[in-house]
Amino acid sequence: MRPVTTSSNAPIARSLADALPLEHGPTWRNRFALAPLTNTQSNPDGTLTDDEHEWLAARGRGGFGLVMTAAAYVAPAGQAWGGQLGIASEAHLPGLARLAEALRASGATSSVQLHHGGQRADAALHGGPNQCPWDAPEKDAVAMTTDEVHRMVDDFVAAAVLAERAGFDGVQLHGAHGYLLGQFLDGRHNHRTDGYGGSLADRQRALTEVLEGVRAATGPDFQLGLRLTPEGFGIPLEEGVETTRTFLASGLLDHLDLSLWDVRMRPRGGADGLLVEHFTDLPRGTTRLGVAGGVVSTEDARWCLEQGADFVTVGVGAILHHDFAARALADPAFRVRERPVTREELRAESVGERFLDYLAAGWDDLVA
Ligand SMILES: Cc1cc2nc3c(=O)[nH]c(=O)nc-3n(C[C@H](O)[C@H](O)[C@H](O)COP(=O)(O)O)c2cc1C
Repeated sequence: MRPVTTSSNAPIARSLADALPLEHGPTWRNRFALAPLTNTQSNPDGTLTDDEHEWLAARGRGGFGLVMTAAAYVAPAGQAWGGQLGIASEAHLPGLARLAEALRASGATSSVQLHHGGQRADAALHGGPNQCPWDAPEKDAVAMTTDEVHRMVDDFVAAAVLAERAGFDGVQLHGAHGYLLGQFLDGRHNHRTDGYGGSLADRQRALTEVLEGVRAATGPDFQLGLRLTPEGFGIPLEEGVETTRTFLASGLLDHLDLSLWDVRMRPRGGADGLLVEHFTDLPRGTTRLGVAGGVVSTEDARWCLEQGADFVTVGVGAILHHDFAARALADPAFRVRERPVTREELRAESVGERFLDYLAAGWDDLVA
């Protein structure tokens, strides 16, 4: 086993079953987080359906320490696909409140992933044009004015306040995968001169303002997380490392999740070692560090802790087993069932019909 990093002041996890205390809000009951998973099961107006409620509530009952919703749009102009969850108006509140209550009853800590698609939004859905830090005619996107950037920051903050009112324990900002907050980080394209583009510090400014705004507008027990892409989408590894270093040390975050796609992958740009190793030794202050990508067994999850992660984020594994966390905690040899699986098997795991269609269309090794 690799010596456990001392860069975090989190109690060192000897076991996946160890509780995880955070700077704000509830202690997670273990080291497993449900990944944000778009399931396209919301109503056309962004309100929760029973299927989406049950999909998430079942993961709470299935033992996850943290249950994260799918990416939820914070403003209509950020909606990126049909059936996306919304957290942009009072109309979204009752469904979210019912979900927060069910998750609390299951013993899980709860979070909403806050999202704005930016140039990757669906202009046809929201009446376009898309918003972006720069002009991108090929994406039907127009550069945001400085006022629009301020409004976008306000929309994220308002969505966090809505999540808190609904009873969620916290939110995670979706800063990964090249959506709007990630577009601001993109040094290839974001050459804005109004303080929100150009230098790396200026490209980070929108994110910083959202984090500061959420902290100021929510209570002392509200948990704040951030998801980042460590490399890719216009972010070279060195900048991914610097941005992660900045936000880990900012004192604003409770948790930061690295979206790696495969926790064992090597850097794409040819740097040495494993991608994850470029991040686990960064000073963390009180921020807990999570990793996501290809964790499908207890052994995989243990390996992540051994690399120095504080928690492990599980996506596909949690689609295959609503109780992935409980199974992994009970059985050191647990590994997910073989793929592809039948629709019937996934229905038994509280995967609804529209989610099944979405998985069958886009994730071809999953559904038979
Ligand atoms: C069906 C599906 C939907 C996803 N939706 C989101 C999302 O809404 N937000 C997000 O940050 N990542 C999303 N992801 C990425 C996952 O959260 C996760 O990082 C990725 O699938 C790798 O982890 P895994 O191998 O355990 O699934 C999605 C992945 C899948 C398979």
